[in-house]
Formats: sequence, C-alpha cells, structure tokens
Amino acid sequence: MKTSQGANYQSYRGLPTLAGLATMAEAARPGLSVADCVARLKRYHYAFLRLHEILTARITAEPIYELKTGFPHHAYLCAEHVQALRTRVGEMREPPLGLEEIPHPALEIFFDEILAAPTTEELLVGIYEKALPALNAALQRHMADTNPLTDAPSIRVCRFARLELADMIDFGTKAIASLVDEKARTAMASWLALLDDCLAAAGRLDGTEQPTGKTISRLHSAKSYVYDPVPRRDERFHDLHNQGVNPEAFLYNPDFPPRPKALMMLFKRLREIDVPEMMASIIVQTKGKPWGYYRDMSRQLWDEARHAMMGEVGFVALGVDWTQARITHNWSLRLNTECTPMERHAVLYFIEQGLMTKTGKRYEWEVGVESGIPLMATIQDYDWADEVLHAALGREWYIPQFGNRKEAIDYGDQCWSRILSNWTEVRERGLTQHENWWPRIYLQACENWNETPDPQVLAYSETYENQRADLKMVAGSA
Ligand SMILES: [Fe+2]
Ligand SMILES: [Fe+2]
Repeated sequence: MKTSQGANYQSYRGLPTLAGLATMAEAARPGLSVADCVARLKRYHYAFLRLHEILTARITAEPIYELKTGFPHHAYLCAEHVQALRTRVGEMREPPLGLEEIPHPALEIFFDEILAAPTTEELLVGIYEKALPALNAALQRHMADTNPLTDAPSIRVCRFARLELADMIDFGTKAIASLVDEKARTAMASWLALLDDCLAAAGRLDGTEQPTGKTISRLHSAKSYVYDPVPRRDERFHDLHNQGVNPEAFLYNPDFPPRPKALMMLFKRLREIDVPEMMASIIVQTKGKPWGYYRDMSRQLWDEARHAMMGEVGFVALGVDWTQARITHNWSLRLNTECTPMERHAVLYFIEQGLMTKTGKRYEWEVGVESGIPLMATIQDYDWADEVLHAALGREWYIPQFGNRKEAIDYGDQCWSRILSNWTEVRERGLTQHENWWPRIYLQACENWNETPDPQVLAYSETYENQRADLKMVAGSA
C-alpha cells in the first residue's frame, strides 16, 4: 500500500495543503451543489438588500443622533455585501441572475415588518436581534456546509460579510441595552414571535430547513410602509430653524483669524447631519436604477454622516459643548418636503461641484492647517478627499440624465434658486428667534485655549437674513 494515499496522504515536506483553504479530509466532503449554493447566496443577497433598504429608509425620521449616524454606516456595509454577492452569483453559471426575485414570501413579510416597525425600539430589536443574527447564522452554515475548495470564492464572501455582521450586531446589542427596557420588550413579544414564525415559514433565512407552511398574518406591515421624509432630532438639537449665524460669511472673511474659523468649520461639519437625512430620501424615493447607483449613493450618504461626526469629535476634542450651537435641519426639511428626488439630487450636485474650486474644500483644508489644530487639518484633508469622490459620483450618476454637464448644472442651479430664504417666515411663525449662538461656542473654545477672546470675533453677528432671496449663495451642506 502506498503511504501517500487516503488517510496517510502527506503534502510535500508537511507544507499546508490546498493553498491553506482546508485539510484533505475537509475538502473531500462533497458539500453544496452549485444550484444549492446559488439558492442560498440569493437569500443572503435578498437579506442584505432589504437591510440596506430598511436602514436607509429609517435615517431621516430617526431622532437619535447616534442611530442617525449608525444606520448610514450599516446601510453602507450592507450595500457592499449586496455588491459582493451579486458578483459571486454572476460567476455561478447563473444568467439571468434573478436577483430581483423574492426568494420566499415569508422572508418578504419578515423584512416588511421590520421596515414598518412603529418605534425605534422595535426597529432595533428587529434588525439587530432577529435579522442580522439570522443572516450571520446562515453564512456560518454556508461555510460549514459547502466544499472549502470548490466553493472557496463564496466562502470568502461569507467570511468578509461575517466580520462586519459581528460589528453591526455588537453595535445593535449595545444600542438595545441602552434604549430598550423590559416594558418595551414585553410589549413587542408577540411581534417578535411573528418574526420568528416568518423565518420558520421560510425554512430559515437560508432555506435549509423544511418550511413550516404556517400562514403569517402581517402586523406592522398590514398597511404598506410609507417613508417619512420629515427629519427629526433628539433633545440635544434645539431651535432647529435658527439662521442666526452665517458661518460661510465668517469663514470667507479675511479679517478673521484661522482658529475661530476652524470652530465655524466644525459647526458646518456637524450641521452636515442634514445631508444623510436628505440623501436617504433620494435613495428611498428613486426606483429602478442599476444597483451601482444605490451602492454609490449609500457610500456618499455614509461619508456625509462621517463628516457630521468629524464635527462632533472636533468639538469634543476642543472641550466645546456643541449643543450650545444650533445644529439646524432647515436644509433637509425643505429639500425633502419641497423638492422632488431628482431636484434634490440636482441641488446636491450643484453644491458639491461648487466645492471643487479654490475657495471650496481646498480653502477649508488650508484654514484647518493654519488653525494650528492638527485634528482640524486631518478632518478637512479627508473631508476634501471625500468631496472629490462625491463630485465624481455625481458625474457618474447625475450628469448622464441630462444632455450635457452644463444642462445638468443649470438644472441644479435653478432647483436651488427656487428654495427661497424663509428667514422672516420662520421667525414670524414663532419657530425661532434666530438667536446668535456664536459667542457661547467661541467663549468655550477660548477658555480651552487659555486665550482672551478677540472682541471682533466675539462680536460676530452676521445672520442669514441679508442673504439674497434664493438660497443659492448660501453654501449648503455637502
Ligand atoms: Fe459630499
Ligand atoms: Fe460632506
């Protein structure tokens, strides 16, 4: 009997076998057929697709800032895994891919129910205790069931997805521990049982069990979900219509020194929390685009959430309580309620291509460097890089809808000009007194810098009142 066969098989001088994928014994198990593998992959794809949809749709009206910034992150991660799974399915003798088909009606109900969850608590538990763990378990099963050699490319997709699923579940578990008490959990018990029934009726998320055949009656999704375009904020955000400080006029005034300008830039960064609120509406309300559109828009949305968090971390690092500023929602509220999705995209593109000039993001980075605050230089350096990417994404997805670039920019220009200043109106309606919050922010920073406030800087009181009637010259969020 030859010693190099069967159980006694030896690799050359004991080297790792099979390119490090598996042992001979592991790879000698037949595993999943291509058809079974693809059927499962399509279910993971559907799950990530629906999770991306749910997380995006719930950004705008979610008041809690930590969730409003967390959902964009997770929506983006889901979008990347959708992309990876689409690519993998496309490699599996599969055209037509059938990726738009719903793998099982009970799975559709499962995700519809979570999308329509009436409270933040239910939404969190639905996503992070039900959907993501079910998906994670399915991917783990895939890795155990499939042949590690023949299906190595799928295993790689599963492994990468599980890394990020673990991060998402960790975030969600902590969020639930902070926000969901026993009372809320008891109140949602029957709904959670319904979610379990859905998964069982679908033969688990991956279809590896016999479906129970149980008919599911919808609860939250009995009426179909309607996206809520009105941005909401938690209690740390107040006076949401305030236009009492014009940060752009300060930033571009050569008489003011760079350090207080850095503070104004942090305000502008944090105020960018209105961009995810607005971009979510474009993504949710624009149907029928190629998947690449949704992936790229979700990347940009996530970048904008990061820009807001850069503002937050900058303020915290300077010992400034940002809640003393007025992080308003004017921009997202007005675009979401007064413009079509196409008009909103046009305004976004119009603003972002305007940032590519010498007075745009380059200038902000230069001010960051001159401020002598190293973190400011880092923030503006990356913010600039992100905006260059966003301008490129606009060229890819926005411009081609028009005859040429000029037409596309003119359209954005017109859309933006149609949004007229509501400075007087919001004051007359009693929504704000346009209070000047700047001294409170500046004085805190001076204390931290151990510096006597500059009287001219402290007295800054230019508001948005004397802006031209259309908001075009007001640098919007991007
Ligand atoms: Fe941007
Ligand atoms: Fe931005």
